[in-house]
Amino acid sequence: MKKSIINFREMAEKKEKIVYITGYDYLTAKYEERAGVDMILVGDSLGMVTLGHETTYPVTMEDMISHSSAVHRGAPNTFIIGDMPYMSYQISNEEAVFNAGRFTKEALVDAIKLEGGTDSVCERIKAIADVGILVMGHIGLTPQFAAQMGGYKAQGKSAGAAMELLRQALEIEAAGASFILVEGVPAVVGKAITERLSIPVLGIGAGSFTDGQLLIYADMVGYYDDFTPKFVKKYANVGAELLKGFTAFCEEVRNGTFPDDNLHTYLIADEEAVNLE
Ligand code: KIV
Ligand code: NA
Repeated sequence: MKKSIINFREMAEKKEKIVYITGYDYLTAKYEERAGVDMILVGDSLGMVTLGHETTYPVTMEDMISHSSAVHRGAPNTFIIGDMPYMSYQISNEEAVFNAGRFTKEALVDAIKLEGGTDSVCERIKAIADVGILVMGHIGLTPQFAAQMGGYKAQGKSAGAAMELLRQALEIEAAGASFILVEGVPAVVGKAITERLSIPVLGIGAGSFTDGQLLIYADMVGYYDDFTPKFVKKYANVGAELLKGFTAFCEEVRNGTFPDDNLHTYLIADEEAVNLE
């Protein structure tokens, strides 16, 4: 059964870890649901992992709606979070509410996520939560701020920077977020934020203490190989399996082994009806 915000609060309270993974399409989501993950993030990492962009900046609301609804069809009993793409919430509260609403109405997601801990992002969180939509905040290494961070670099590495992240986390909670995701920070920072907040704290590259753990599915199954962050553990080797299958197919078509007319071909129904030879 699909978990609700109540279940996630209870899990955090009881120190039962929340399993969180990204998903971008119907088929992958189906396997994720079968495996029993607790939540699926349709991340704007879609841009890099599935659409082949170099950053998340080009991702549009149309991309996100199309992929989020596919994930919903593949995992109808899993809690799904739609990631607000660049420029879908930055401009105004009105645009943020409108686009969060599109995720809810058109893609049937259970919550939305947006990046940043500035005052204006906190205003957007409040506006979206005010219309009844569950919001997940996201701080630390936030790819939509990559230009300002000088690339994809771990955050909160000095005492001052760590204190600033903690302050932002508390502001995001006060603004009405129901969860927060902390990305790419030292384990002590992930721990401090988890201890200080009362909403569930999810982590990706934020150490073992957070209430849940997220990984990008294509990283952890050995599929996306353009770049692998330090915090990724590889649980499978999907890329190698695909390559094996595709290479064998190429070979067998070219040498005539496939198809085998005894195995992979239809038989004619009425033997007397035709004599094609
Ligand atoms: O887009 C995404 O997948 C994300 C995670 C990397 C945190 O936001
Ligand atoms: Na994202």
